[in-house]
Amino acid sequence: MSRKRSSKSRRGQLSVLCGLVLTFAMLLTGCQGTAPVAEVSVQEMEQAKNALQPLKEQLVDALTGALEEGGPESAIAVCREKAPQIAAELSVDGVQMGRTSHKLRNPENAPQPWVEPLLAAYLEDPENSKPRAVRLDDSRIGYVEPIYAMSFCLSCHGPSIEPALQETIQSLYPEDQAIGFHMNDVRGLFWVTLPSDAGAGMDT
Ligand code: HEC
Repeated sequence: MSRKRSSKSRRGQLSVLCGLVLTFAMLLTGCQGTAPVAEVSVQEMEQAKNALQPLKEQLVDALTGALEEGGPESAIAVCREKAPQIAAELSVDGVQMGRTSHKLRNPENAPQPWVEPLLAAYLEDPENSKPRAVRLDDSRIGYVEPIYAMSFCLSCHGPSIEPALQETIQSLYPEDQAIGFHMNDVRGLFWVTLPSDAGAGMDT
């Protein structure tokens, strides 16, 4: 923060970094994302991936914007208020989405039962970042993508958190377990459930 760069160029750097990270994440998921898992079709995988995309983008934007403008303390408000708000806004037309983890900060983000085995699979084999999907019933599918910890996540989720920040987090989330992560650890996953047009899709 004390570097002699203008805030504009720092922001530029951050967005380039985030862009890179996102692109990398998309490459990772994109390469392997076309393989259907269980009976979920390639088209459905694509649909789910596209549904999740704005959540991923808006979260990174909101988070990096807040980190840039007010530092981690104010970015906490983004994670706390904006993240659920963005997810809620995008959860329309029978689509629902969110984030979850095996080490939760907010217990309200606890994994739904269908997500648990998928989360466990990423934890068992963290290098396999391919999206996974399941059919929840004949009219819905569930789809997940892993979330890996990046360097700028660690100020709030890493092994050593600045004491004042730690205090704020602790006061807001007395049951916080979402610390101690290192770069590239599986931090959790994005999930989305959406109506499936499997009946129609089968014919094509
Ligand atoms: C400024 C501090 C801060 C930073 C930086 C931050 N987070 Fe978080 N994170 C939080 C807070 C606070 C919550 C709880 C949000 C809520 O109440 O829903 C959270 C929740 C989460 C969750 C939802 C599951 C849970 O534990 O409740 C995931 C997944 C997550 N963060 C991943 C990340 C990743 C990946 C990054 C980096 C790209 C990151 N976070 C950066 C503070 C932060």
